Amino acid sequence: MKKIFTKHNTSSTVTINNRKILPDAVLKIDAITDDIIRIHTISKKNDYEDYSFAIEQPLENNTVFSIKENGSIITASTGSLTIRIKQSLQLDIYSADGTLICSDYQAYDEDKPTLSKAEADQLAKEGHTVDTSVSSFKYKITKKIIDDEAFYGLGDKTGFLNKRGYDYIMWNSDNPEPHVENPIFRALYKSIPFFIVHRSDCVYGIFVDNTYKSFFDFGCSNPESYSFTITNGELNYYFIYGRSIKEVINNYTFLTGRSPLPQIWTLGYHQSRWSYSSEAEVMEIAQNFEKYNIPCDAIHLDIDYMDNFKVFTNNNNTFPDLKGLSKKLKKLGIKLVTIIDPGVKAEDGYHMYDEGINNKYFAKTTDNMVYHNTVWPGDAVFPSFTSAKVRSWWAGKTDFLVKYGIRGIWNDMNEPASFNGPLPDDVVFSGDNRNYFHEEVHNVYGHLMAKATYKGLKQNDGKRPFVITRACYSGSQKYTTAWTGDNQSIWSHLKLAIPQLLNLGMSGMPFVGTDIGGFGSNATPELLSRWIEACCFSPLFRNHSAKMTRRQEPWTFDRQTISIYRKYVKLHYKFIPYIYDLCYEESLTGLPILRPLIMEYEDDINVINCNDEYLVGNSILVAPITEQGAVVRSVYLPVGTWIDYHTGHRIKGGRYILCEAPIDICPIFIRGGSILPTYPDINNLDKKSTKKLIIEFYPEEQFDNSCYYLHYQDNGIDFAYKNGEYNLYKFSFSPKRPNGLKISMVKNGYPATYNSITAVIK
Ligand code: GLC
Repeated sequence: MKKIFTKHNTSSTVTINNRKILPDAVLKIDAITDDIIRIHTISKKNDYEDYSFAIEQPLENNTVFSIKENGSIITASTGSLTIRIKQSLQLDIYSADGTLICSDYQAYDEDKPTLSKAEADQLAKEGHTVDTSVSSFKYKITKKIIDDEAFYGLGDKTGFLNKRGYDYIMWNSDNPEPHVENPIFRALYKSIPFFIVHRSDCVYGIFVDNTYKSFFDFGCSNPESYSFTITNGELNYYFIYGRSIKEVINNYTFLTGRSPLPQIWTLGYHQSRWSYSSEAEVMEIAQNFEKYNIPCDAIHLDIDYMDNFKVFTNNNNTFPDLKGLSKKLKKLGIKLVTIIDPGVKAEDGYHMYDEGINNKYFAKTTDNMVYHNTVWPGDAVFPSFTSAKVRSWWAGKTDFLVKYGIRGIWNDMNEPASFNGPLPDDVVFSGDNRNYFHEEVHNVYGHLMAKATYKGLKQNDGKRPFVITRACYSGSQKYTTAWTGDNQSIWSHLKLAIPQLLNLGMSGMPFVGTDIGGFGSNATPELLSRWIEACCFSPLFRNHSAKMTRRQEPWTFDRQTISIYRKYVKLHYKFIPYIYDLCYEESLTGLPILRPLIMEYEDDINVINCNDEYLVGNSILVAPITEQGAVVRSVYLPVGTWIDYHTGHRIKGGRYILCEAPIDICPIFIRGGSILPTYPDINNLDKKSTKKLIIEFYPEEQFDNSCYYLHYQDNGIDFAYKNGEYNLYKFSFSPKRPNGLKISMVKNGYPATYNSITAVIK
């Protein structure tokens, strides 16, 4: 009799052979830390290579499993988890107190296609999109849904905060149709295959580190189970335990990395449009911010600043002196950010094309011809960002923009998008040690482009790179911020923005935003007002709109709208010291800036599905109006005292309240006991404007506990903080001295401190 279940155990790995279930691979279970277990196959083919685009530091398995074997069951335990591995390769995972956390429903099952070929053809004839791709897959893992489990994460997929009952596809997609609720829209620009499972007695995350097209089903096809399905490559997922959602995010970002501190001005307001089409127009935009007394830190140049959409060129007729323009803008405290797309115009004599062709930097067909498709510049070719050499070449090119004084690069169309049909799966991208087919790198193309751009800005500019991307993968947070792509000026997209931003944050991407006002179609004054209110704490704070739509700069609207716009942009600037503190916290812990209520109030069942409120850190609760015509809404306030930001009223939480919100009011509540660092009224984040700090203290009704807050300060520009050039202040209030702010320095490494720090008790 052939042995079908053999195991080779070392202190931190269990290796299992089951030739019946996995004829061509072995299953490995590695203890990465006490809380993180890696479960992966190693195919017996010679070309197996263990690598990750997301996890870039070596993972040392320092954790030791204690392994027991009892007949057909192997039990491997870390300090916090016990994994029971059955002969069927099904896994049950328990916490140290014996709670069953996660259990395979039916491992490695075979999927029955839901549609026959004839049925699929019939549906397609009537114009329905029939996606049968999930019926051919390589591995599918199905796990039990236990009790009241809710699912969060997966980046900025459409739909609601809690993904239970829905299914999604990881395949970076540029689909210009309005991004409506799932199930119609199952794939968007980003693939972040990480989700958090939360129920009343435990929480964990799963990161499926496989870049091929994959499918995630959270009780959609079977209410008793959830599954993830990969179409190629190795099965490779991490089970990530934590005692709270925060701990799970901390552990996930321990693996995939955290966003480094940004330049502080990048947290300011950005104005964009496709496209500002001359230097004169850009100057007028900048001057209007001054004229209308609306703070602004950046103006973005979309594709028309280039010569015929050729990347790393400028249009000599409309933008003949980019350097001069950035200098003039600098005087107004405004920086320029330019767009760069990956598609390189196929044109002899154009330096990017010629260099790329000569050095074999572009993707090829299987018969070794350079692959062409169509993007903005027309006939275009695609750099193999999979190769370190190509990334260095691209990084070097950013010098062209840096020399012109450009302070940030916006990476677009990097799914990669293409107008002449999708890139075939077998387009070949060269790598360092091997070539990759498009089907493997599609979902990381944007990630690798962002990585190249980050490297370029870092080496050429020396400052903390400011990169924005549309497409990304897990781990992109180390290199780039992200926006949610081409939304529309419609109310459902304003509503969608909140779960999108919150789920991005729970997926390790903290510095994110949506196009304020909506990109496509025409914003009404009411919609723009409610949008700037709803997103007033958005870390990436940019108004962007498409050609052919109504202009969306605030002054193109009526007086009331301008005044509301000004009020909320100013509110954003007021709280930038707090947002920057949250960036500091994030750089150490991975915790996002914008948080769903469930992250701070895990035991409160009222917030499991809270789609229309969010927290900024743990101190500010925002409950925006996202319904046309609404001037009142119900707001859920978690337990504790909350202070209405606009009226100062103290409200007891743990209940719903009805809140009046006329057009100029976005309901905002401060958690009692909060200390918040703020700036006075400023117009941009230039060094001179950030010299004064005002500490706002919001005591609870009964002020009988001391409160303190740690505030971070550095030069907000470069990497000097890495050498200890930063300050950490401790601000405290005590009931004994209720009106007095006590300031102490926990770390004193940055000499240029504030000129004044004052306190206000609210
Ligand atoms: C894409 C981007 C959009 C940009 C346009 C032109 O649609 O998502 O933001 O304005 O291309 O570059």
